Amino acid sequence: MKAIYPGTFDPITNGHIDIIERAHRRFQTVVVAVSQNPGKMPLFTLEERIGMVKEVVAGREGVEVDSFDGLLVDYAKSRDVGILVKGLRAVTDFDYELQMAQMNHKLAEVETLFMVATPSHSFLSSSLVKEIARFGGDVSAFVPAEVARKMKERFRGEA
Ligand code: PNS
Repeated sequence: MKAIYPGTFDPITNGHIDIIERAHRRFQTVVVAVSQNPGKMPLFTLEERIGMVKEVVAGREGVEVDSFDGLLVDYAKSRDVGILVKGLRAVTDFDYELQMAQMNHKLAEVETLFMVATPSHSFLSSSLVKEIARFGGDVSAFVPAEVARKMKERFRGEA
């Protein structure tokens, strides 16, 4: 069975990787779908975000990396996949995720399966990691080394 794990991945964190690995134990194929998401004004371009995800999942058979623009349900339909996997860190994630899950089901009968974050990752977010890196903090415990390096490079001279 195939599932789509969608997100902005700006950038991918150890929390995302945990969900990818755990989803992959339950699904033969996991498609990590990077959203263009211009509304979020991402720090990294779509190509950079895809590149980082690809680097992180390299060599894992059954984990694909792709991108999409527009509605997630349209993308899911185009890939002939009916299941989305989402990570939930805390109740603060839940309201919006519930709304999207119900909307995606209403729009196209696409199902959303929630995986709860491993407690050691439940405080992790791309936004916080970016803020820490922007001000010169050490993010090496939260993202893969290559991602930490790219963030350092991006914020060089800004702090
Ligand atoms: O990593 P994020 O930013 O939490 O991911 C959010 C994402 C990309 C999964 C969500 O914004 C999304 O599904 N965007 C695609 C546009 C869409 O389908 N919107 C309607 C949702 S009901």
